[in-house]
Amino acid sequence: MCGIFGYTGKRNSVETVLKGLKKLEYRGYDSAGIAGLHTGEIVSCKEVGKIAALEKLVHEEKIELDLAIAQTRWATHGKPSVVNAHPHLDQGRTLALVHNGIIENHDSLRISLEKQGIHFVSETDTEVIAQLLGVMYQGDFLATLREAIPLLKGAFALAIIHKDYPGQIFAIAHESPLVIGIGHGEAFVSSDSNAFAAHTREVVFLANSEIAVIKSDSLQIFDLMGEIDKETHQLTEEIQEISKGDYEHYTLKEIFEQPRVIRQALLSRFLEEYGTATFEELNLDVNSLLSVQRILILACGTSLHSGLIGASLLEDQARILTYTDISSEFRYKNPIVPPDTLVIAISQSGETADTIAAVKEVKAKGAKVLAICNVYGSTLTREADSTLYLRAGPEIGVCSTKAYTSQVIVLALFSLMMARMRHMNKYEGQEFLNALKALPDVVQAVLDKAPEIEKIAKKYAHYENFFFIGRRYMYPSSLEGALKLKEISYINANGYAAGEMKHGPIALINADCPTVALGANSDTLDKLESNLREVAARDGKIIAIIKESDRGLEKIANDVITIPDTIDELATVPVTVVTQLLAYYIAIERGADIDQPRNLAKSVTVE
Ligand code: M6R
Repeated sequence: MCGIFGYTGKRNSVETVLKGLKKLEYRGYDSAGIAGLHTGEIVSCKEVGKIAALEKLVHEEKIELDLAIAQTRWATHGKPSVVNAHPHLDQGRTLALVHNGIIENHDSLRISLEKQGIHFVSETDTEVIAQLLGVMYQGDFLATLREAIPLLKGAFALAIIHKDYPGQIFAIAHESPLVIGIGHGEAFVSSDSNAFAAHTREVVFLANSEIAVIKSDSLQIFDLMGEIDKETHQLTEEIQEISKGDYEHYTLKEIFEQPRVIRQALLSRFLEEYGTATFEELNLDVNSLLSVQRILILACGTSLHSGLIGASLLEDQARILTYTDISSEFRYKNPIVPPDTLVIAISQSGETADTIAAVKEVKAKGAKVLAICNVYGSTLTREADSTLYLRAGPEIGVCSTKAYTSQVIVLALFSLMMARMRHMNKYEGQEFLNALKALPDVVQAVLDKAPEIEKIAKKYAHYENFFFIGRRYMYPSSLEGALKLKEISYINANGYAAGEMKHGPIALINADCPTVALGANSDTLDKLESNLREVAARDGKIIAIIKESDRGLEKIANDVITIPDTIDELATVPVTVVTQLLAYYIAIERGADIDQPRNLAKSVTVE
């Protein structure tokens, strides 16, 4: 959360930084600010709202800067306001800094600084760093930074400028990502390399407690002991043009991209003849895969839901004991990770702080980690022993759509490969592959029904409470359907295993609380039907999503949306596309901000 960007070089610093910042807007968008040096003084400009608002103000005020740092904020300490927006300055206006992360000991530091006569202007944890550095500075800023880092507890990626060091940006990373881009006579620093990838492909990733001294023509890296040599990396993935095309929102575009995304995720990853899957980038050897006794899947949010599907697939097909855990809970458990456990960490962004922390915990316990991730070079991919990429292309909408689908496809292929190494025969493998290969057309058929789904969405958009229920593979799909609806339309929506309704939640059912019944698990359809009869008996309205050739629910549902037939194990893909469209059209009807819903951020880089 929060995106930081800095630039020094021959370009117009203000425009370059604003452009870079816009590429980081997915990380937070409640306020933004920029600072730099001009004629030897620190100049800063901040505004509440999206970056466009800051851009307008910067132009109105004709801000000129020799070099610049900037931040787009997702508020943690202190509400979104101009005062709380970054950059933050020290009392003497000698330095300005932008921050991504959380300083956990900010209270005690603030108290001690106040005792030294410092007057704070904001409610943020970040201002504590600026004031601390201002107080500690005695003429050697690098030495100040090295002394200050051990005093800060928590996560911090910082870009800092100082009056006494014109032409230099100081950057520090600690449990929060920061990458430096080295150009010809220019340099960039950013939370995400995509923000400057169009200008340079040569990058340095900062590790914990490292300090970079960035000038337009040189880069030095220090750790707490002294200067260090640091490897540079080349960004290898293609720069993808990010635009909405003809779509009104990125979210809608990303929903409609899913047939292509599935093809891309499958491309050259299966061997038809042997009915199995293969991953070029998988660098775990066959013996270690064969020795896996259990699999632990760690993830958050939407990635957790695809993980639940993956766990069912791995148990069903490969007969490997697999369990899924919420990353943020897992890390505080002192978890048992027996030998021969393979950990799969799933994350679209690869920057989710909870998942990265959980991965560090299992690595400390000796487990091997396989990441499933969309973003090349992200922190998770650098922590993991091996990574399977989603190949979904940049996902800009804060609400994750196409990444879920790619995650399910990659998990399905991985499960097939593990199953074929164990119990599954070639013909079963080929049958599963055929179902996978048919998915792009199945999803396209669902997308073609968008006008029908939009009509149903309009009919239900005024309700304030929803249930999403399903059984087996439709249970994680229910969680995902409910998450989509609540995050983009701000409707209270709960996902439940259908059999759980009678154990409490059914108390909420009445004519004002519709239920979306995910009925595309043919194996358990009759059981779901019984649960739905209980809903109908209490006047609850029902929207049923079923396979074309399945019958039963149409008798009790108020509305039915059909998907083309597919196997139960993969039905989550087309069903989730239906629930994505439902959420999208309901949110449109309610006038919500689709691509950047309130209170959310795309990359959750704080705990
Ligand atoms: O980047 P990740 O997949 O690790 O992100 C995990 C969640 O923060 C994310 O899926 C979140 O729940 C989305 N907003 C859901 O649409």
